[in-house]
Amino acid sequence: MPKQENFDVLIIGSGGAGLSLALKLADQRRVVVLSKFALTEGSTFYAQGGISAVLGSQVSSIDSHIQDTLNSGAGLCDPEIVRLTVEYGKKSIDFLRQQGMQFTQRNSKQGEPELHLNQEGGHSERRIVHNADATGKALSLSLISKAKQHANITLLEHHNAVDLIIDDHCVRGAYVLDTQNNVVKTIAAPIVALATGGANKVYLYTTNPQISTGDGIALAWRAGCKIANMEFMQFHPTCLYHPDGSSFLISEAVRGEGAKLILPDGSEFMHRYDDRAELAPRDIVARAIDHEIKKHGIDCVFLDISHKSDEFIKQHFPSIYKKCLEFNIDITQEPIPVVPAAHYTCGGVSTDSYARTDISGLYALGEVACTGLHGANRMASNSLLECLVFAERASENILNLEFSEKFMELPAWDESQVKESTEAVMIAHNWDELRRFMWDYVGIVRTTERLQRASYRLALLQQEIADYYQSYRINSDLLELRNLVIVADLIIKSALSRKESRGLHYTLDYPKPDDLCVQNTVLDPNKSEQ
Ligand code: FAD
Ligand code: SIN
Repeated sequence: MPKQENFDVLIIGSGGAGLSLALKLADQRRVVVLSKFALTEGSTFYAQGGISAVLGSQVSSIDSHIQDTLNSGAGLCDPEIVRLTVEYGKKSIDFLRQQGMQFTQRNSKQGEPELHLNQEGGHSERRIVHNADATGKALSLSLISKAKQHANITLLEHHNAVDLIIDDHCVRGAYVLDTQNNVVKTIAAPIVALATGGANKVYLYTTNPQISTGDGIALAWRAGCKIANMEFMQFHPTCLYHPDGSSFLISEAVRGEGAKLILPDGSEFMHRYDDRAELAPRDIVARAIDHEIKKHGIDCVFLDISHKSDEFIKQHFPSIYKKCLEFNIDITQEPIPVVPAAHYTCGGVSTDSYARTDISGLYALGEVACTGLHGANRMASNSLLECLVFAERASENILNLEFSEKFMELPAWDESQVKESTEAVMIAHNWDELRRFMWDYVGIVRTTERLQRASYRLALLQQEIADYYQSYRINSDLLELRNLVIVADLIIKSALSRKESRGLHYTLDYPKPDDLCVQNTVLDPNKSEQ
C-alpha cells in the first residue's frame, strides 16, 4: 500500500473552480489538486461564450444582471446569493487578468481599447466578457500555467477520487485511484473541496467532456450531504447535429449576434414561443426546438448566421467556423444543423455562501454545487462567474480557519476481498443503457409514467453495480458508472417530487408552474425513505 500523503487542502477537480481556489490558497496553504484525466479535461476548457460580469460600478447595471438572473431562475434563485455573485463580478475578472488571461477587446467610440461584450439568452444587455469563442481555453491555460509555477501546489493528473473519508461528521481526506499505476492512495487533508463539475454524461447526448459524471455529487451523497434541485438539468439549445460532430457546441453568442433558428423550409419559429425569440432563456429555446423537431418529424433545426459578413463571422467565431468547416459546413454561406443536448447541472451539493457543505471541512464549488444562484434555470455565462466567486468565498473562509499541521493516521484502502474483473462488458452495457433511458424518459419533456419507467430500470442497474463493486477491483469506468447511477436516481426522485413545470423541469402531467411549489427540492441521505 502507498504511504498516506498529507496536505493542508485537497481540491478534487482542476477546472475553473478548483484551480481558482488552489491559486487563492497557495500562498498560505499546501494544496493538492486532483484531475481525473489531463488537467485541461473539464467543461471549463470547452467554454465558449464567456463570463457574465458587470465591470463598472453603476447600480443600474448590477441590478439588471441580478434581475435577469432571477428571471431565468423562474422563482427559485436565492436573491442574496444572486446579489453577492453579481457584486463579485469585477473582482473575479480582475483575478483572471492577474493570472494572465486575455479577453477580446475592441475600440471604444473614443478610440480607446475596451473589452468587447457578448450577449446571450436571458441577458437584457451586453455584459459577457470573453476570449473570441474559446473563453474556457484561455481561462484554463492561464490558471494551469500559474498553478504549475506555484511551489505550494501539487497537481496530480490521472487521479480519480473514489470516496471521501469522513469521521465524526468531519472530512479527513479521500481515497484516490492513481489510474496510471493502478493503486489506491490515501490522501489526508483537514479541508477538502469538491470541484468536480457537472453530471451531464448521465444523458446520451451532451455538450460535456468525458469527465462530467457527477462524481462530486455522488461522493457528497455517500458522505451524508444534502443534494438539491437535481431535476433542473439544462439542455443547451444548439449543439451541432452531425454524425461525427460528437455534440460540439454552437455558442449562444452566435444568437446574440443575430443568428436565427429556422426550420428546413427556411421559416423562423422562435417568435411564436417567446417575445425575446432567439434570445429567450435556454429552457424556452430548447423546448421550442424539441417541439418543432417532434412536430415535423425532422432530425434537427438550423441556425443561420450567414447574413453577417464573412469577416465578422470569422473574427467573432473562429473556432466554430473552423470546426463546422471540418464537417463541410461553411457557416458564412449556409445554416448550421443543430439539436439540443444536455449541458449543465443546475442542482448539486447544497452549500452556503462560503461554499460549505453539511460536512465540517468539506466545500463544494463550481458546477458540482447548488448555491442558489441558478434556481430552476441557469442564465448563460453565469457558471464561470459562479466558479470564480465561490472560489473567492471559500478561500476567504478557509484562510480564516484555525490551522493545525497534525494529521490523523487514516485506514488504508482495503482490497483484500476483491478480485480482478472478468466482466467489463457489464459496465459498458450498463453505461449505454443508463444514458439512453435517461435521454428518452428523463429528458427535456417528462411525464410521471416515463419517470417511473426510468426508475424501475435504474433499480435493477443499481443492484448489479453495487454487487459488482463489492466483488471486483475498481477502475475508472466502474467508479463513474457507480456515481452516475446515484446521480440518475437523484434526478428521477427530484423530478417525480416536483408536481409542476418550472424552469428546466417540464412535465406534461403538470404543464404549468404552481405557486405552492416555489421551493427547492432537497434530498437528504440521512433520511431513510430516500
Ligand atoms: P469542470 O471544468 O468540469 O472541471 C471538473 C474537474 O473535476 C476536472 O478537472 C475533472 O477531471 C475533475 N474531476 C471530476 N471528477 C473527479 C474525480 N472523481 N476525481 C478527480 N477529479 C475529478 N459556462 C459559462 O459561464 N460560460 C460559457 O461560455 C460556457 N460555455 C460552455 C461550453 C461548453 C461546451 C460546456 C460543456 C460548458 C460551458 N459552460 C459555460 C459551463 C461551464 O463551462 C462549466 O459549468 C464550468 O466550467 C464548470 O467548471 P468546474 O470547475 O466546476 O468543472
Ligand atoms: C455558450 O457559449 O452558449 C455557452 C454559454 C454557457 O453555457 O453559459
